[in-house]
Amino acid sequence: MSSPVNTEHFWMPFTANRQFKAKPRLLKAAQGMYYSSDDGRKILDGTAGLWCVNAGHGHPRIVSAIQQQAAAMDFAPTFQMGHPLAFEAAGKLASIAPEGLNRVFFCNDGSEGVDTALKIALAYQRMRGDGLRHKLIGRERGYHGVGFGGISVGGIAGNRKHFGPALPAVDHLRHPLNIAKNAFSRGLPAHGAEIADELEQRLLALHDPATVAAVIVEPLQGSTGVILPPQGYLQKIRSICDKYGILLIFDEVITGFGRLGSAFGADYFGVKPDMMVCAKGLTNAAVPMGAVIVRQEIHDAFMAAAPAGAIEFFHGYTYSAHPLACAAAIATIDVYQEERLFERAAGIAPYFEDAAHSLRGLPHVKDVRNLGLVCGIELEAQTGKTTTRAFDVFVKCFEEKNVLIRTTGDIIALSPPLIIDKAQIDSLFGTIGEVLRRQ
Ligand SMILES: Cc1ncc(COP(=O)(O)O)c(C=O)c1O
Repeated sequence: MSSPVNTEHFWMPFTANRQFKAKPRLLKAAQGMYYSSDDGRKILDGTAGLWCVNAGHGHPRIVSAIQQQAAAMDFAPTFQMGHPLAFEAAGKLASIAPEGLNRVFFCNDGSEGVDTALKIALAYQRMRGDGLRHKLIGRERGYHGVGFGGISVGGIAGNRKHFGPALPAVDHLRHPLNIAKNAFSRGLPAHGAEIADELEQRLLALHDPATVAAVIVEPLQGSTGVILPPQGYLQKIRSICDKYGILLIFDEVITGFGRLGSAFGADYFGVKPDMMVCAKGLTNAAVPMGAVIVRQEIHDAFMAAAPAGAIEFFHGYTYSAHPLACAAAIATIDVYQEERLFERAAGIAPYFEDAAHSLRGLPHVKDVRNLGLVCGIELEAQTGKTTTRAFDVFVKCFEEKNVLIRTTGDIIALSPPLIIDKAQIDSLFGTIGEVLRRQ
């Protein structure tokens, strides 16, 4: 029997509130690869919470770091003050970032990280005396959180349409998903790198490259259903940005911290951006935290431009580098390194890929795409009812089979903790297969 919970007052994010509250799905404990539901079932976590609990739930090292820090010092301001853990956490994060990206601005989540990165990009161009560069380029189906900056460069109509014009000087690249040519690719799709050329041939030609401050992309588009960059695509984007002096921002909120079997997507793809936004796996999601990791020259330009004694960047959050978040981040990065979790993810990714592609040929499966420990399974929509087929699979997996998956539109998106083993991979895909066969 479910415990009676009054669900009335919590206005739930990105949720069909009325539908949910009619039949709530409640989690009340978590350990390792499993949640426990409020009715006492053990639920296999196929989504690392929300792409974030990369080291598995309740890691004792992270729990203890947070507990000790809460007892030692609950909060300290970082406006004109500091505390040692803030600097230690920044140093640790810089130490696993690509070389040259070594200055860290802390915030509380991915949305704040994106808005912070966009502001750094715009301000940087002005600091350099190039204030004409005021435009930002994002991508269709990009998800960059829910701040006004993020929804502006993001490419999801539903996240934008109710909120007015947002930022004015923004344009979008086409997304590279092409099921007709790339369905059931294993790893990076072969076709479509030429879409990157449109950045130069269409957008920059239209806007004048001298007016563009930055391009922002997710190395792999996760939230809108696992859209992978075609082979060579990100390299092209980088070289076009270089050619025209445009900053390249990678939104690594999902791809950071081992999801692709390396510290960041930038490492996996061998493409170095000028800034990276991260969050989620930074603290194993145990305390909210986001960060923007910046190329040193960008940071140094701010330091050089402001008069001595002046604040160089008019931006920050009360909770930038919150002590509990810093303690969690330091412990989390130690866990990733000591337990070699990124290497572990890389090692088990081929098994995950085989299991994912075993779903090919099942009813309604239109595409399976995968990279590292990420998989998207795109289903044929029911006639006239988008999202319902995948949502039905999600509910059945949770209610009847004790497996947590995630869906977006008619796409199932999987991103388990990096500690998943082969038997759990079998169970995850076996369950989805069973449910699909009954659709
Ligand atoms: C690529 C990307 N950017 C930004 C965000 C927003 O992060 P948050 O929900 O922590 O604000 C997300 C969240 O899923 C994301 O996937």
